[in-house]
Amino acid sequence: MIRFERVTKRYDDGTTAVDDLSFEVAEGELVTLVGPSGCGKTTTMMMVNRLVEPTSGRVLVDGKDIAGVDPVALRRKIGYVIQQVGLFPHRTVLDNTATVPALLGWKKAAARARAAELLDLVGLDPAVYGSRYPAQLSGGQRQRVGVARALAADPPVLLMDEPFGAVDPVVRERLQNEFLALQATVRKTVLLVTHDIEEAVRMGDRMAVYGQGRIEQFDTPATVLGSPATPYVADFVGSDRGLKRLAVTPVTEADLDPAPGLDPVTGPGGGADGAPAPVPLGTSLKDALAVLLQHDTGRLTVTGDDGRPLGVLTPAGVHRALRRASAPSESQGLSGGSGPDRP
Ligand SMILES: Nc1ncnc2c1ncn2[C@@H]1O[C@H](COP(=O)(O)OP(=O)(O)OP(=O)(O)O)[C@@H](O)[C@H]1O
Ligand SMILES: [Mg+2]
Repeated sequence: MIRFERVTKRYDDGTTAVDDLSFEVAEGELVTLVGPSGCGKTTTMMMVNRLVEPTSGRVLVDGKDIAGVDPVALRRKIGYVIQQVGLFPHRTVLDNTATVPALLGWKKAAARARAAELLDLVGLDPAVYGSRYPAQLSGGQRQRVGVARALAADPPVLLMDEPFGAVDPVVRERLQNEFLALQATVRKTVLLVTHDIEEAVRMGDRMAVYGQGRIEQFDTPATVLGSPATPYVADFVGSDRGLKRLAVTPVTEADLDPAPGLDPVTGPGGGADGAPAPVPLGTSLKDALAVLLQHDTGRLTVTGDDGRPLGVLTPAGVHRALRRASAPSESQGLSGGSGPDRP
């Protein structure tokens, strides 16, 4: 859906912002661009909607070299959440959200109805927030409006430049989860820029780790964490990458021990003897470990698709799962090795 072919951008003052960049984002895939300040993330993103033109190389969207596509027509298909949100201060939340449909010439009532629908979708009651101005919102609410505005014209492609950057970690995690839930239904092709490695890991089907002006590794979060391609990437993802991997590694059947006489499954609320409630196959190791740590039983029943117990996960099983996940030949991750097919 988005394809960079040997793209270099040199600004007029001689700064090479990106150097010989090639990558591809599949339809419906969410790719995170992560790296230190000034490494070329925003420049990359702006070359997708022609706010910045490459010095050499080609950018293709939907199979077409965008150098030959009218920028206005191109941007209609591409929602853009800019760094620092960028809401119009003198327009209400509803009118901010309706900006693009209005530009596209929708009738006012239709544009506003669509805006109200989108505000609802991002968790802002239009009856409460629609008539407010951006200054009357919290940082997290403003960021939701930014996302709603970018989605308003239902573009197939979404560019998000640090969309959750300006809020505290708790709100950020909530916005991330909400966006992932939203993405599971709307399935946009998304480029999301962040300098936060946790966010890149959490959000990305795949992630591009930037060094200065170039991509050092482009792969699933599980593979980047499990097998960093270069010492730079290893350093960037951090010495606690093993822990971070817990969040992107699912529990599989191979990690389970047989349950002697199988734990009775009593459904939500816990099993007998204070045993934790069972969790389904595919739960992240992080979540499974959190449950294990809350109980003294040292084991956790894992159920299959039909809700029947398949076996138990123990700390030894967690360890096995991590070793399996770090094997380079098998990049199995919650984010899905096959790109857009997030489970
Ligand atoms: N218009 C411009 N003219 C000259 N140099 C520029 C211009 N815009 C960006 N740069 C430079 O290009 C490099 C990449 O900038 P870019 O904005 O893409 O970085 P970034 O990865 O988005 O950084 P941040 O995380 O701080 O937003 C930087 O060295 C920056 O100073
Ligand atoms: Mg930037």
